[in-house]
Amino acid sequence: MKRNETAAHVDLPSWLQDEAQSGLRATLKENRYGWLVTGAAGFIGSNLVETLLLLGQDVRGLDNFATGHWRNLHEVRARVGETAWGRFVFHEADIRDARACAQAVEGVDYVLHQAALGSVPRSVKDPKTTNDVNVSGFLTMLDAARVAGVRRFVYAASSSTYGDEPNLPKREERIGNPLSPYAVTKLVNELYASVYSRTYDFHSIGLRYFNAFGPRQDPDGAYAAVIPKWIAAMLAGDDVQINGDGETSRDFCYVGNVVQANLRAALVGERAASEVYNVAVGGRTTLNDLFSIIQEGLAAHGIHYGKQPVYQPFRAGDVRHSQADVTKADRELGFTGLFDLRQGMIEALPWYLAFVAGETAQA
Ligand SMILES: NC(=O)c1ccc[n+]([C@@H]2O[C@H](COP(=O)([O-])OP(=O)(O)OC[C@H]3O[C@@H](n4cnc5c(N)ncnc54)[C@H](O)[C@@H]3O)[C@@H](O)[C@H]2O)c1
Repeated sequence: MKRNETAAHVDLPSWLQDEAQSGLRATLKENRYGWLVTGAAGFIGSNLVETLLLLGQDVRGLDNFATGHWRNLHEVRARVGETAWGRFVFHEADIRDARACAQAVEGVDYVLHQAALGSVPRSVKDPKTTNDVNVSGFLTMLDAARVAGVRRFVYAASSSTYGDEPNLPKREERIGNPLSPYAVTKLVNELYASVYSRTYDFHSIGLRYFNAFGPRQDPDGAYAAVIPKWIAAMLAGDDVQINGDGETSRDFCYVGNVVQANLRAALVGERAASEVYNVAVGGRTTLNDLFSIIQEGLAAHGIHYGKQPVYQPFRAGDVRHSQADVTKADRELGFTGLFDLRQGMIEALPWYLAFVAGETAQA
C-alpha cells in the first residue's frame, strides 16, 4: 500500500486532528496493523472502523446486525473513500459462533470487541438473550483471540458495573452490586478477562464506557439511548420524555474519546494491560441540563424546540448518578485531549440533522 494514501481526500475526525493526538496519528500512519472490530455495524464499532481505515490500517469487521445496520457501513465507505474501503473485510457472523470467531480473528494483531446487546431495559425484559450474547458470545470471542495469539484484546466494558456503589467520581477499584442483568454480563466479562490473564497469560484491556454519544448512534427503537432519542424527538417536534425528576446525572462521553481509548489501549505496553479503565470525560450533567444543551445546540442550527420535557416514573435498573474519575486512563493509557459534552454535541448534531432529513425524504 502507498503509505500516504490515507485521508488523501478525507479529513480525519476533528478529535484526531488535535495536537494532543499527534503521537497516536504518527504511530498508526507509520505502522500497518490488522484489526478485528466486532460490532462493526453498530454505533461505536463503525466509528472505530472509520478511524482505523482513515489511518491506513487493515480492518476486519464482524456483526450479525442484531442492532447494527448496513447503513452505518455504507456511510463509513462513503466517508473513507474506495481506496481505504479496499482494506476492509466484513464477516456477517454471530459472536456465539466459535468457528466464525476463529476465522475472523485469524492473523489479526488487535481485537476491539464491541459486539453485545446494550441497554439496561432490554436486559430487564429479556435477561437470557442478553446473557447469551454478552457472556457466551464474549467468552467465545475472547477464547478465539487467545487461541489466535493476538497482541491485545480490548473490550467494551461498562460504567453499569459500578452498580450501587455510592461514591462519586467512580474509581476503577471500587464497584458495588450490579443493578441490572446487563450490568451482570459486563461484570462477568471483566471476570473472564482477568481469569484469562492469570490462567493463560492472555492480556486484555476492558474499557468501562460511560454514556457514549455521537454520529451513528441509533435514534430509533425502544432501546435508543437518551441523546439520539431526544434529538430525534426535538427534530420531529415530539414530546421529550425524562425518566424520573431530571436530576439523574451522567458523564456523557463523545464517541471520539471512546475511539481514542480503544486505539491507545491496543497499542499501550504490557504494563498497562490486564486492567480496566474508565472511559468518560470526568464531568457530570443532569438530564435537565442535557435537555437545555441539546435545545441550545439545535437553536444554533435555526431549530427552535419550545416544548417542556414530560417527566415519567424512574426506570428499573438505572443508577442515579454517574461520573468517572479518568485519572487512571490518563496516566496509564495517555487518554487525553478529550471532547466534552458541548464539543461532542457540535460534532454530533449535524449528523442527526442529515440523518433525520434523509429519513424524512425516504418516507
Ligand atoms: N453506547 C454506550 O453508551 C455504551 C456504554 C457502555 C458500554 N457500551 C458497550 O459498547 C459496545 C458497543 O455499543 P454501541 O453503543 O455501539 O451499541 P450498538 O448496538 O450500536 O452496537 C453493537 C453491535 O453489536 C452487534 N451485535 C450484537 N449482538 C451480536 C452478536 N451476537 N454477534 C455479532 N454482532 C452482534 C450489533 O448488531 C451492533 O452492530 C457494547 O458492548 C456495549 O455494551 C456502550
